[in-house]
Amino acid sequence: MPAHKIVISDDLKTDLERFLSDFKHDRLFVLADTNTREKCYPLLQDIPRLQSGRLITIPPGDSHKNPEQLSAIWQILSDEGASRNSLLINIGGGMITDLGGFAGATFKRGIHTLNIPTTLMASVDAAVGGKTGVNFNGLKNEIGAFHAPACVFIDCRFLRTLDRDNILSGYAEMIKHALISSGEVYANVLSLDLDKPMDSGILNAMVAQSVAIKERIVEEDPHEKGIRKALNLGHTIGHAIESLSFKGATPLLHGHAVAIGIVCELYLSYKQCGFPSDRLTQVVHYIKEYYPPFFFHCKAYDYLYERMTHDKKNEGGVISFTLLSGIGEIRINQSVSKERIFDSLDFYRESFGI
Ligand code: GLY
Repeated sequence: MPAHKIVISDDLKTDLERFLSDFKHDRLFVLADTNTREKCYPLLQDIPRLQSGRLITIPPGDSHKNPEQLSAIWQILSDEGASRNSLLINIGGGMITDLGGFAGATFKRGIHTLNIPTTLMASVDAAVGGKTGVNFNGLKNEIGAFHAPACVFIDCRFLRTLDRDNILSGYAEMIKHALISSGEVYANVLSLDLDKPMDSGILNAMVAQSVAIKERIVEEDPHEKGIRKALNLGHTIGHAIESLSFKGATPLLHGHAVAIGIVCELYLSYKQCGFPSDRLTQVVHYIKEYYPPFFFHCKAYDYLYERMTHDKKNEGGVISFTLLSGIGEIRINQSVSKERIFDSLDFYRESFGI
């Protein structure tokens, strides 16, 4: 998978117009959900080359990142004569860039895609790095492929209208990137007061810094054979918590589940790899300050454990964690006893007064 270009754009229309005139393609398709169709697409629709494209609109929400919507997209690509030289532009959050990315990866064994993320989560994580996929059998991104977009255009103007929950969701991935990078980035990310309105200059710089961390790792290991597993910090337990939340009345946004996963997996890092206790306390304090507690009972532990056994990093049926022995000191392929995993869930619940 070749490295893809990531552009932090201050003038998306001009940048996209230039890209479309330089990038050779026959047909153009644009995928949006009903929200991004209404709120984001209008900012771009008077680009003449975009007007000649076929707009595909699907319902919003992660529950629609499924084989049925995928099939509906394939159908349109097929009916409208898409070829391997066609370009599919995905405008939206992670649900759109994952689903559109996978449609692009699989149609005729791969057409060109371009991502325009419109959420913080997609800007710093989902739209970047070439992971694509759909949910299946109650499991997140169970079916998918690595397929690098030709380009990712990040325009932080889209982030100004995001609600607090969506900002927090994306920020959890920025905390993760900080933890796996350096003390300097860590201090920077944990010093931001998320209750204050975000200064757009600061947000732009922080997004650029966060994306650069991911970009470096993906360049080194695009297919997640080794160091890319670092990007899964917080996700082994986070994905299990996310699945649990979908069974109840309060489904969590991905990043909120990842924040819980980070708390649990830093506890495991402390117990197993010598991660400093004062750093653990700092991160727990920061997450507790901004992220609402998620209530679950110890009766859910077996379900959570069963979900973790489906994690894509596992080998030979053993749950494999990414842990840290310090900020930026990554330990991949860590196996942890079931008892200790349960202790980490106890730790979260006790820390959050559940
Ligand atoms: N979201 C983790 C990765 O892209 O590898």
